[in-house]
Amino acid sequence: MTIYRILYQSESLLTGTEREVRGRVDAIVAAAQRSNTASGLTGALLFTDGLFIQALEGEAQALETTFERICRDLRHRRVVLHEFSEAPGRVFDGWGMTAVAGDPRAATLFSPGDATAHRTSRNHALASAAVTLMRGMLDGPAVRPGADRGVRGGAAGGA
Ligand SMILES: Cc1cc2nc3c(=O)[nH]c(=O)nc-3n(C[C@H](O)[C@H](O)[C@H](O)COP(=O)(O)O)c2cc1C
Repeated sequence: MTIYRILYQSESLLTGTEREVRGRVDAIVAAAQRSNTASGLTGALLFTDGLFIQALEGEAQALETTFERICRDLRHRRVVLHEFSEAPGRVFDGWGMTAVAGDPRAATLFSPGDATAHRTSRNHALASAAVTLMRGMLDGPAVRPGADRGVRGGAAGGA
């Protein structure tokens, strides 16, 4: 099975107090976990400073369908696709979707609204850096306990 990976950024339109927004992000992640696990997708969502950065990986058709739904979601806007390409394998193996704690380093990787950059090799390097950063955060102390590992092993069967 060929694995593809998407990396995009978007601007959050979530409203409320910091605590309420956090709760809404957690709800997005929880729903995404269920749906992605059913579709064989894995990935991570980083929310920092009003910006979402999400990596999603899996079969091309499932990725396309899910990404189309994500793009239509009114809880964010200015979805900028940085990468949709074949990947040597899964980076987020076992995480149907996981929240990674906000890290300012990730937000500065991309300039908001940089819609054309995804064609450049520079942006490929940035996307790779973001994915590596997000994956590293899952192993490090930045993981929010209990928020994300519930589906470990669930979504990636046969990958
Ligand atoms: C930032 C963000 C990330 C999301 N990530 C996913 C995801 O990984 N998988 C998924 O199924 N839905 C995700 N969603 C939710 C979808 O946009 C959509 O609301 C959900 O799939 C239900 O779609 P439906 O109402 O058309 O059934 C995300 C939404 C947002 C705002």
